[in-house]
Amino acid sequence: MTRPLRVALLGCGTVGGAVLRLLDQQSGDLAARIGRPVEVAGVAVRRPDRHPEVPAGLLTTDAHALVTRDDVDLVVEVIGGIEPARTLMLAAFAAGKSVVSANKALLADDGVALHEAAAKAGVDLYYEAAVAGAIPMLRPLRESLAGDQLRRVVGIVNGTTNYILSRMAETGAGFTEALAEATDLGYAEADPTADVDGFDAAAKAAILASLAFHTAVTAADVYREGISAVTAVDVARAAEIGCTVKLLAICERVPAPEGSGEPDSVAVRVHPAMIPTTHPLAAVGGAFNAVFVEAEAAGELMFYGRGAGGEPTASAVLGDLVAVARNRVAGVAGPGITTYAGLPARPIAETPTRYHVSLDVADRPGVLATVAQEFARHGVSIATVRQDGHGDAATLVIVTHSAPDAALSTTVTALREMPAVRGVTSVLRVEGLS
Ligand code: HSE
Repeated sequence: MTRPLRVALLGCGTVGGAVLRLLDQQSGDLAARIGRPVEVAGVAVRRPDRHPEVPAGLLTTDAHALVTRDDVDLVVEVIGGIEPARTLMLAAFAAGKSVVSANKALLADDGVALHEAAAKAGVDLYYEAAVAGAIPMLRPLRESLAGDQLRRVVGIVNGTTNYILSRMAETGAGFTEALAEATDLGYAEADPTADVDGFDAAAKAAILASLAFHTAVTAADVYREGISAVTAVDVARAAEIGCTVKLLAICERVPAPEGSGEPDSVAVRVHPAMIPTTHPLAAVGGAFNAVFVEAEAAGELMFYGRGAGGEPTASAVLGDLVAVARNRVAGVAGPGITTYAGLPARPIAETPTRYHVSLDVADRPGVLATVAQEFARHGVSIATVRQDGHGDAATLVIVTHSAPDAALSTTVTALREMPAVRGVTSVLRVEGLS
């Protein structure tokens, strides 16, 4: 064992605090695993007076000076957000230091440029904690599955929304009530927008899709719908057809039509969807995360665990820290990302999806035929129809086969205008039905 490897920690919130604690508690094991001891060189925070738990000599407000210091070998960035994290990361690379980050927003926005900067400097950029917290997911995509062809990656990657949807299913509550409960229990932030509107999941989807399909995908390429429009009726309808409602991050390679000469495309979307209760993702309850992968050779794989929280996220950060420290000791850099496939992004309108639609209709001859005709007029094939009659009214529950999303949404708009349709009571996409 020689000189310790010295780590600059940027940010000391819930995750940073847990990283510091675990680095201290496990220092002996980490040294043995890496081949050199690891020491904290400094901790950059905005308000040093708010961190009595950190030795005062380590605290600094000058993050830039810390990352470029000669005695710093590795940088851990857990500030989050785009700036100043981006500038600090680039400064670290330019100074020859590897970076471990938990920053999904930055990696989803600018991952390719950051990887290029790291590669140019011959250092590492690892960010396992950015997607699905403790779950080892990015290294499996980047390394373990690097010899396979991936078809789809479908994840529940936001614990807040999964908690809310789970409570809606368990209690019959509406979205507002379930969100209030999640806020009271600390599962939802005071401003829940990033989680509830799907921004958090969209950033994670972009990172997953980039690695899965060797293609640069940014958050701007991801179609996004949150869960605030999901109603208790949607959840009840899902249960009636043997499904449950989840906010899914879906990354898929859509094959080009045979003989078209066109390349395959990549469709990446985040939206609530009904999935069969028999699907492995349906069993993921509460604030847990899971990612389901379909690969040509490996078949189906599922990764499950805690997607948030100080210690679970710190576990992923420390795993990366050990990896980049080992590379440093060996004098090598680990694998970066490859974007050689350059597959075009497929807009949601052209992405094949399936819909569930529930309608209140007049129960008289010809109504079902007229409704069915509207689907046919838009080229949408119906898979199943169920009718529940009550008096002169009836509820029609329709599940379609897959069709371009635009055809399905145009059909729903047309149904809302039909005189025989008294109301469209539930519309949700359906995933995972065979
Ligand atoms: N806010 C996220 C969630 C965790 O609810 O899962 C951090 O990405």
